[in-house]
Amino acid sequence: MDKAALRLTLFGLLFTCVNFAAAKKKIDIYSFHINCTVTSRYATTVITSRVANALNKSQEVHFEVKIPKNAFISEFRMTIEGKTYDAIVKEKEEAQQEYSQAVSRGESAGLVSAVGRTLEDFKTSVTVAANSKVTFELTYEELLKRRLGKYELLINAQPMQPVADFKIDVHIHESTGISLLEVKGGLNTKDLANAVTTTRAQEDAWVKFYPTRDQQKNCDDCTKNGLNGNLVIMYDVERTKQSGDLKVAKSYFVHYFAPTDVQRIPKNVVFIIDQSGSMQGKKIQQTRIAMLRILSDLAEDDNFGLIIFSSHIQVWKPELLKATAENVEEAKRFVKEIRSDGATDINGAVLNAVNMINRYPQEGSASILILLTDGDPTKGETNPVKIQENVKKAIGGKYPLYCLGFGFDVSFKFLEKMSLENNGAARRIYEDSDADLQLQSFYEEVAMPLLTNVQLNYQGVANVTQTTFSQYYNGSEIVVAGYITDNSLESLTTEVIALSKSTKVVYNDSLLTDDFGNDGLEHGNYISRLWAFLTVKQLLAKIMLLKGQEKDNAKKEALELSLKYKFVTPLTSLVVTKPQEDEVQVAVKPNEEKRHSSGRKQKITNWTGMLLAAKPAGNRPSPRSHARQHPGSRSRLKSLRVPIQYGLTMSSRTVTDYHYDFLDYDMGFQLRKTPQKPLTTSPPWKSIRILKSSGNAQPICYDVPFALNVRLQQNDPTEFYMNGELETIGGNGFKQIVIFYKPNHQLRLSTTIIDYSYGSESKTFSWDQELTHHETEHVSLVLRSNEMDITMGNMRIVILLHKEDGSVFLWPAVRQQPKDVSSSGILGEAEILYEVIPGTQTPMLKLKDQEVKASWVTMKDYRLPAAPVVGCWLVPFEAVTQKTISDFAITQP
Ligand SMILES: *[C@@H]1O[C@H](CO)[C@@H](O)[C@H](O)[C@H]1NC(C)=O
Ligand SMILES: *[C@@H]1O[C@H](CO)[C@@H](O)[C@H](O)[C@H]1NC(C)=O
Ligand SMILES: *[C@@H]1O[C@H](CO)[C@@H](O)[C@H](O)[C@H]1NC(C)=O
Ligand SMILES: *[C@@H]1O[C@H](CO)[C@@H](O)[C@H](O)[C@H]1NC(C)=O
Repeated sequence: MDKAALRLTLFGLLFTCVNFAAAKKKIDIYSFHINCTVTSRYATTVITSRVANALNKSQEVHFEVKIPKNAFISEFRMTIEGKTYDAIVKEKEEAQQEYSQAVSRGESAGLVSAVGRTLEDFKTSVTVAANSKVTFELTYEELLKRRLGKYELLINAQPMQPVADFKIDVHIHESTGISLLEVKGGLNTKDLANAVTTTRAQEDAWVKFYPTRDQQKNCDDCTKNGLNGNLVIMYDVERTKQSGDLKVAKSYFVHYFAPTDVQRIPKNVVFIIDQSGSMQGKKIQQTRIAMLRILSDLAEDDNFGLIIFSSHIQVWKPELLKATAENVEEAKRFVKEIRSDGATDINGAVLNAVNMINRYPQEGSASILILLTDGDPTKGETNPVKIQENVKKAIGGKYPLYCLGFGFDVSFKFLEKMSLENNGAARRIYEDSDADLQLQSFYEEVAMPLLTNVQLNYQGVANVTQTTFSQYYNGSEIVVAGYITDNSLESLTTEVIALSKSTKVVYNDSLLTDDFGNDGLEHGNYISRLWAFLTVKQLLAKIMLLKGQEKDNAKKEALELSLKYKFVTPLTSLVVTKPQEDEVQVAVKPNEEKRHSSGRKQKITNWTGMLLAAKPAGNRPSPRSHARQHPGSRSRLKSLRVPIQYGLTMSSRTVTDYHYDFLDYDMGFQLRKTPQKPLTTSPPWKSIRILKSSGNAQPICYDVPFALNVRLQQNDPTEFYMNGELETIGGNGFKQIVIFYKPNHQLRLSTTIIDYSYGSESKTFSWDQELTHHETEHVSLVLRSNEMDITMGNMRIVILLHKEDGSVFLWPAVRQQPKDVSSSGILGEAEILYEVIPGTQTPMLKLKDQEVKASWVTMKDYRLPAAPVVGCWLVPFEAVTQKTISDFAITQP
């Protein structure tokens, strides 16, 4: 076996071939429009992209956009050569069947969504004939929520190339009047600012963003692929009546309630803060910073308590104390001393806080519990169900519990359920440089209670959304919608009863039936859609809390509404049937988190998959079945020498084996996700994503461009070499890993057996055998279930066998490696240090004396048996290795 990394000529050939294919690609997005209409906070956005295939032969054209997570897609259509193909919203299970059928017929089917921090990806593609055009049109809808006194409309634009006719049009209509309008986001910065125009009238506002082709190439958020950024429009409305704004159209009503004539209520707040070991580093640092600011923001007549917990529970003071200057100073000193260590006793900590607040008089005040944690309970009561029961019983519905989940190691479902059961809400805090601001901004939302025990009543109506709210905060808004059943009503009356401090307040209003529809006429049936949107959202939350028949009923109702209003919700899918190939694609609302049925570890839909689809121009099977016909790696490489299309083609294995659990609602729609927007410097075809711990608190990760056989690690001075053979295109990991050490050791691991040879001695192990030790000179092998622990000289490597979604693959984890010996390979050097460059719009890291663009992503850490989801800075491969993939490609492992 050759130890020198033999460059692969074939690989070079492949490269040329890909470049050639890319160069010939002539796809012209000649028009890209985003048209957004907001009527009384209900936003409907239509994205229209017109694309021409300027090439002399048919080719795949892609459509990829990002939409806000909170929105539901409600329409998607493609128009090709005058014919329109509408996507259909179907029950998820039914859609899945079509999908599987399409796959079993050997057609490639694609995945159409992924998760980011505030946005979701929608992507699809279609084959367009020579010199033909296609129009993609996607519609999504959402009810804008008022936070901190503003509604925020987020529009992402990333057309993938400069576009001759690029337009974003936003029209906001609020019949009570618009009181504030701000345009922000990366697309409204210096170079592009003059492409934005805002027009305001009393009840209407128009925002237009019409950048020229040149502007799309030369801005902060631009690359040679054109614009890439957000337009954020923030506004607020006039509030003419304290009793709220009532609107009726076609028998549906909506009531927006946000009174301003009340005084703030002093609050009793207890902060329950996780200081377990996992909070170590940046998280605990950011928590301290946020807490110091929050403490400064407390009003003098607020009462507060602090509980920090890990394996044990530490209370700052046994009682709530007034937020006097002295007390706040003392609390700050306490906060500065918070250190992270130990396990997570959520149950004990929350019950302690409840006890503390219960001992304090509630009269004339608003009580609030805020829990911040980054992990699952590991100490005291650890059964999530028990904890939920205990907490619910202790709080007894008296005040809300808000749960903040820091990062992705925490079971968000658990926190979500616990907060919903206690009139609160859960929020994820993303591990990022702005985590302290996220914490603070959440606190600000609940910092000023104005009313408690809010009850809204209506007469002659049915199917009304939630009407009781534990607290109403300054800067927020209560929205209730319903259906008017009584046709003989002369007027629709509303009554709101609530507590302000300790006085009861009543707000009455009525709208004469004669006035019905005045506002609705112009904008059709937005109120009924708004009602459906709100109802589905609330039902989805309720499903989490209900059991048995009630749960089934809620699910049924949510499904029926989703189908009727064509919303792509967690219960439905969008089925896109493609014209020529008769191909089916299914888009599902992505789920951010998925609990394993067995353990408490989560996975989120992630992007560890790869993106290369090598499909011959004709109608041929998926690359996987293709590979099966050509088992030898050489022939497989040859099979790639066909026109290459970028995009995701699902392998049939992934599709048939994905986990789908409708009844449990945990919705494990585990299709492989495509990577988030690729960094411009890394090519679109990639094999695997490598996660690398670094001397810094946050790991980095990078995508390895595609090569079948790669050098994982090369350490000349110690004569240690590790090579890997990738599963195949679309795989999760390695099929084979081979290690050479000194002239005479060779260890060959496949997903079934492990062969070790040492001079003339040889030994075979199998992955399912019992704990085995094997020792020779300078070499120790320990085999336990699905893990082989290898020590060779001063190198320690663990090879893990992962079984996931029906696929079995190997993953190497370097546990120890000499820092003083330089090594190369796609796994990189022993230690990589970076600096986050502060104050840049897109995150930038300084890495190896280079400034590189980075994006924060999450992925599975296959270096650990449980493959937990972790966050990392995604940087270009070349930035880490300082080489190109051809330097690491080898002929055989
Ligand atoms: C945007 O959509 C609205 C509602 O469908 C329509 O009336 C308006 O003409 C559209 N605007 C543009 C610029 O296309
Ligand atoms: C288009 O294709 C036809 C037939 O394949 C060929 O004869 C013609 O030269 C091509 N035209 C261009 C402009 O490439
Ligand atoms: C609510 O917030 C607004 C804006 O920050 C502020 O002007 C107003 O005074 C606040 N209301 C009360 C009751 O403090
Ligand atoms: C508000 O309306 C309710 C009936 O809807 C009525 O009983 C009550 O007296 C009204 N209160 C005020 C203050 O008008």
